[in-house]
Amino acid sequence: MSVSEQRAQLEELRAQTIMTLEKADTAEEVRQLRSDALGRKSELSGINNKLGSLEPEGRKELGQVINSVRGDIETAIEARLISLEAKERSVRVESETIDVTLPGRAPARGRIHPITQVIDEILDAFIGIGFRVVEGPVVETDHYNFEALNIPTDHSARSMYDSFYIKSDSLEMPLIRAHTSPMQARIMEAQDPPVYVVVPGRCGRRDEPTPNHLSGFTQIEGLAVDEGLSFADMKGTLEVFAKAMFGPHQRVRMHPSYFPFTEPSAEVYVSCFTCEGIGCPTCRGEGWIEIMGAGMVHPKVLRGVGYDPERYTGFAFGMGVERIAKLRYAVHDVRTFYENDLRFLAEF
Ligand code: PHE
Repeated sequence: MSVSEQRAQLEELRAQTIMTLEKADTAEEVRQLRSDALGRKSELSGINNKLGSLEPEGRKELGQVINSVRGDIETAIEARLISLEAKERSVRVESETIDVTLPGRAPARGRIHPITQVIDEILDAFIGIGFRVVEGPVVETDHYNFEALNIPTDHSARSMYDSFYIKSDSLEMPLIRAHTSPMQARIMEAQDPPVYVVVPGRCGRRDEPTPNHLSGFTQIEGLAVDEGLSFADMKGTLEVFAKAMFGPHQRVRMHPSYFPFTEPSAEVYVSCFTCEGIGCPTCRGEGWIEIMGAGMVHPKVLRGVGYDPERYTGFAFGMGVERIAKLRYAVHDVRTFYENDLRFLAEF
């Protein structure tokens, strides 16, 4: 190839490269173009490498052309790179910018289930006056659920506690505890008096679920055994509880009742926490709300665990947590507590 042909080839190369350069729209493409156009395997380097075989005249002329083409391409590439890199940087900065003035996105928070909240409040009220929290097994034996509580096999009170039996043919007859009272005997067997405990726990009865009843429910049991405890101590204790739980103006009232494991037994009422005793839908116009069963621990129960009923007396009480939660939050149907509808649960 003659010098002039090579010269023409170089001019063509310059024009081509600068045209391609103008079409490149990323810095990456431009860098690739730079290595294609100026790198060791480029056409330009090829021509340059063959310079040595030319006559001095031609070598000088072509050398100058090569340098000028190379210089032009380099300058054009540099300029294009600077502008493309600036553009890319500003796009990146734009996309990575955090607008600190935007309102935050609150993560969905869990919360304490309303029944658990009520359990905690009830326990706190008793912890505040010296009671200790203990828990017992949900699966119980006939002995603790009934016998130790003075409810022998044929006792009519068994019908109050229609139980879920897990294995009806077994000797021990394990069942789902029908109340938290089985812990009375368990705790007294485990320790000497004085006893001051509250026992939260899940219970079960074969009752048809209704707006007022659940077949699986929660009770809180209380048991106090000491020297010289009287019915008045029980009433005072429950009054302190009622005030702590429902408000400082609450009063407590008792009605005679019957439980095989307490004597005397009582139904405990607090003045309605909605109307404070005037009468409203919450208390069905009564002004009073029944919140628990209670009584003085039956001497037979004390004797059964080896406590001397001549020396020790005590009182016990048991309340249904869902019922208290229902009244307190004016919920119409206790079953809604366990339907796991987050829209409902988020209300508490
Ligand atoms: N265990 C009784 C019930 O479930 C409540 C109760 C507990 C009554 C303690 C008296 C004393 O109905």
